[in-house]
Amino acid sequence: MRVKAITQPPEQLWPAVLDWYRRHQRDLPWRAAGVSAWAVLVSEVMLQQTPVVRVEPRWREWMQRWPQPADLAAATPAEVLRAWDRLGYPRRALRLREAAAAIRDRHDGVVPVATSDLLVLPGIGSYTAAAVRSFAYGERDVVLDTNVRRVLGRVLDGAALPAPSLTRAEERRAEGVLPPEPAASARWNVGLMELGALVCTARSPRCDVCPLADVCAWRAAGYPGDVHAHRRRTQAWEGTERQARGRIMAALRAAVGALTVEDLPDWGDRTQRDRVLAGLVSDGLVAVTGSPARYRLPEQ
Ligand code: ADE
Repeated sequence: MRVKAITQPPEQLWPAVLDWYRRHQRDLPWRAAGVSAWAVLVSEVMLQQTPVVRVEPRWREWMQRWPQPADLAAATPAEVLRAWDRLGYPRRALRLREAAAAIRDRHDGVVPVATSDLLVLPGIGSYTAAAVRSFAYGERDVVLDTNVRRVLGRVLDGAALPAPSLTRAEERRAEGVLPPEPAASARWNVGLMELGALVCTARSPRCDVCPLADVCAWRAAGYPGDVHAHRRRTQAWEGTERQARGRIMAALRAAVGALTVEDLPDWGDRTQRDRVLAGLVSDGLVAVTGSPARYRLPEQ
């Protein structure tokens, strides 16, 4: 159920969020002053589907090894996939390498600032484009990840959880509460993100420490669609295609040369293994040569 949106003057919301962020923000390396737009882009791609704690060490290694887009573009896919390690959804790594090559070739090695230039880069959607513009370039853009959507949905609309996909109305509403000054708008974006990550979480919101508790429409309405009552269902992992993909990729990352199918892990479901292997080949994550077939990470 949705309660009627309250018309909260955003001037009341801004200092609450900005002050809270100043006091409670995590010290994450991609938020440090002077971090390059490339470093921000890499962090945002890694963070798309992987938690902060797992991203941080990999991000540090990537920045040491490939400090500029041209450095990553010169690496082989196999090197990039090994360095991606266990971050998951490894197609992101290949797309990031392709984006790096496009940045080198079309933008003199500098991450572009125009939304239209960012959106045509492989693996960059509207969230990542806006995040790079806001966090790296200080442009005034709305950054709507799932955390920000949840916070704004609760505070402004009284909705427990956002709809599965972003609506135009939601975007307009978020634009309506974005601070006018670009530097403040960037801090507002990351502040809402942090509030969603640390306080206004999906299933255990800590309203007692929330800086927006007094103005929150969801709280005022008595938590309709109460998430406090729902326990998160543990996401099934055992037996999934993702787990199977991860097992094969882990074996290929660790291998020195190419492997035959007999060398690959066998978890008792060869039908699944063959299907998943074919999927990895068609995704360009695994190269296959010879007869009998041998498998390895792609060298180009
Ligand atoms: N800081 C900037 N972008 C972030 C993100 N996507 N997740 C967590 N912290 C961030």
